[in-house]
Amino acid sequence: MNIYINEAQLTSELEKLASFSETPAPSVTRIVFSAVDMAARGYIKQLCAAAALEIREDAVGNTFARWRGRQPELPAVGTGSHIDAIPHAGKFDGTVGVLGGLEAIRALQRAGAQPKRSVELLLFTSEEPTRFGIGCLGSRLLCGSLDASAGEYLKDRNGLTLDEVRRQAGYTAALETVAMKKGCYAAFVELHIEQGPLLEKEDLAVGVVTAIAAPSALRVLIEGEGGHAGAVLLPDRHDAFLAAAELALAVELAAKGSGSLDTVGTVGVCEVFPGAVNSIPSKTKLEIDIRDVDLRRRDAVLAQVLRASEEIGARRQVRFSIETINADPPAQCDEHIVEALCRSCDDIGLPHKRLVSRAYHDSLFMSQIAPVSMLFVRCRGGISHRPDEYSSAADIAAGVKVLAQALYRLAEN
Ligand code: GLV
Ligand code: MN
Ligand code: MN
Repeated sequence: MNIYINEAQLTSELEKLASFSETPAPSVTRIVFSAVDMAARGYIKQLCAAAALEIREDAVGNTFARWRGRQPELPAVGTGSHIDAIPHAGKFDGTVGVLGGLEAIRALQRAGAQPKRSVELLLFTSEEPTRFGIGCLGSRLLCGSLDASAGEYLKDRNGLTLDEVRRQAGYTAALETVAMKKGCYAAFVELHIEQGPLLEKEDLAVGVVTAIAAPSALRVLIEGEGGHAGAVLLPDRHDAFLAAAELALAVELAAKGSGSLDTVGTVGVCEVFPGAVNSIPSKTKLEIDIRDVDLRRRDAVLAQVLRASEEIGARRQVRFSIETINADPPAQCDEHIVEALCRSCDDIGLPHKRLVSRAYHDSLFMSQIAPVSMLFVRCRGGISHRPDEYSSAADIAAGVKVLAQALYRLAEN
């Protein structure tokens, strides 16, 4: 089959999608269910309709665009990713998997293929945790790892519940209807930029993912005692921020001491109350991200951080309240799909390597209802979650070509 990827069109679609942003170029900020997110979704649906795909949206806004196969009653082959973007992000994280997935389908259509199974493009709602504090919202609900009660208890910064926000966005069906059954997809393959440096270091355009690391996140509220920054002497203080600072260092110490470079720990949120230069912090909120490819090692680091909070709290006489936002297991990719991707690389003479994903992706959750793998595209300097995130049009097109071949292979199976 002669598969031709329209690199120029895909590049201009990625550019256009990046223009739906709350912050000026080159940064992209697209928070779930914001006006720009809704406009971007409209743009994607327009492109899907132009490719004659059948579109369905579920109660949380996960969007499905199906290209019917010769035997549409069979479980489909899925592909896709997300289009939401953290504040001041770049234009490739997630979007390459959505627009690249669409281009892979269009390339197969142009080649005159009509596979046995349907091929379905998925756009997952809120892979990023920015608005509701938890990542992979759409795929968690879809695979049943989060239940419908999340609609009530997940709230954004303004206190609006997920249910309120999604209904305002026009997604009014019951959240219970989002969950899909195991077996509904014969395979799921996600194309994504690597977000790490390995492919660039080894001069490879693409890599095939064999496993996805286990993510976890904690929300920590520290309550101490506020007061006048001039009048209260240091020995008498119970400074909530200083306790938070110690805990942040304890996260680094625990992750570094795990015995493996695969362990990472980050404190990405720190909010100090009341936030005045001449006021001792009475409260501080932290959000902590801890990951590893090895679940036992990740959990040991989590436990060490909890023990550190007890010690710091007792010594500084401040109160820690710690909530586990998520502590998910890792995912193993399906060997059959990994093979299909590797063979598709070989078919077009593209050297590749197998690697582990340290970032999480919707595929982590899709793995609970379907066999999955991912295809990574090299990105410059391994940089991601920054405005200067960059993958070349040629590398993206190479990834899309491999994806198209693999989707066809899996859909004929
Ligand atoms: C996904 O965006 C992640 O933080 O891994
Ligand atoms: Mn991301
Ligand atoms: Mn992503």
